Amino acid sequence: MPHDFMPGLAGIPAAKSAVSDVDGERGVLEYRGIRVEELCQRSSYLETAYLLLFGHLPTQQALTAWEQDIVRHRRLKYSIIDLMKCLPEQGHPMDALQAAVAALGMFYPGRNVKDLENNYWSAVRLIAKLPTIVAAWARLRRGDEAIPPRDELGFSENFFYMLTETAPHPLWVDIFDDCLILHAEHTMNASTFTGLVTASTLADPYTVVASSLGALKGPLHGGANEEVVEMLRRIGTADRAAAYVEEQLRNKRKLMGFGHRVYRVKDPRATILQSLSERLFKTCGSSQLFDVALHVERKAAELLGEKKVYPNVDFYSGIIYDKMGIDVDLFTPIFAIARVAGWLAHWLEQLTENKLFRPDQIYAGEHNRPYVPIDQR
Ligand code: CMC
Repeated sequence: MPHDFMPGLAGIPAAKSAVSDVDGERGVLEYRGIRVEELCQRSSYLETAYLLLFGHLPTQQALTAWEQDIVRHRRLKYSIIDLMKCLPEQGHPMDALQAAVAALGMFYPGRNVKDLENNYWSAVRLIAKLPTIVAAWARLRRGDEAIPPRDELGFSENFFYMLTETAPHPLWVDIFDDCLILHAEHTMNASTFTGLVTASTLADPYTVVASSLGALKGPLHGGANEEVVEMLRRIGTADRAAAYVEEQLRNKRKLMGFGHRVYRVKDPRATILQSLSERLFKTCGSSQLFDVALHVERKAAELLGEKKVYPNVDFYSGIIYDKMGIDVDLFTPIFAIARVAGWLAHWLEQLTENKLFRPDQIYAGEHNRPYVPIDQR
């Protein structure tokens, strides 16, 4: 069968999925058929995670049971904390998260992915424990004790509490929860695909999520949110934004937080995140980074609009987290805290009709080369 090679598998479907859909021409993103704008207005992260995993919105009773299951599994075994204490404190939090998640699989054996009940509890553990791991690492690396979760706090509020030991402003909790909704799922992106390749071997879900975390870390994917804030800080003031953009593009460098394989218009998540930042700044005062970002976007629209390169999800998210006092290198782990729901939804979906990923290649090397003995080379 003849095949055309598509670098990056651009435009090649890798799965049939009902989890989410992107209309890149119109800038529409739906989870299980519901637009993200509506989910941000009316849902919570945990309800959205349920929707992604099980395909429908929960009844009140189901939602309460789901939330309780998550609360009961937020704690970490002390051995996992001990294990994290052995990691080098200057290590990137994504690496610490990946190591801890891989280790989780050793603490929770039961690798039969045909066992649906075990799959449910694995999903619960992963969604529940990722925020605890990220917050614990943020403290352990500074020599502080990890703070255990508090059962009466909601998902986002508890994350802030574990990070800072203080109760966050309720508006922050609201906005942060919306950020998690917006990062929870995005069709066949690199980290989801990576997880599905691992899952297709029938590996356990901790291994699947550890694989996805590795792919998410890179600067062309989730890692871009950290690079954006570093770029905005380098630019410094709004009046220097246009010259910076021009220079980057003149030197054929990418602008971080811009462009997308699927969107030909501004990423709808970037639009929502921009308005969330405006909401945050109304109460907490503006941010210089935001002013710089607006000017970068304006200049980029002028110079990149023709190529249909616009801000993506990573452009405004970091500005929000930065205003909330969160360290820049925790931005991608926060992306992961949310995206684990999408990874697991695709994992469960694929398991219903699994087939080992084993793509082909177009061989571009030689044949029939003689083996040259070492003394004759
Ligand atoms: N800045 C400047 N030019 C760009 C950018 C950008 N950020 N993105 C794409 N372009 C140009 C690119 O130079 C190319 O131009 P030409 O046709 O003249 O060579 C054209 O647009 C097509 O770009 P591409 O890199 O071939 O497109 P792709 O679909 O392979 O890349 C991308 C998608 C996300 C890797 C790319 O846009 C990029 O590197 N962006 C910066 C990193 C980033 O923000 N990543 C986050 C992605 S969205 C969220 C997530 O996945 O985590």
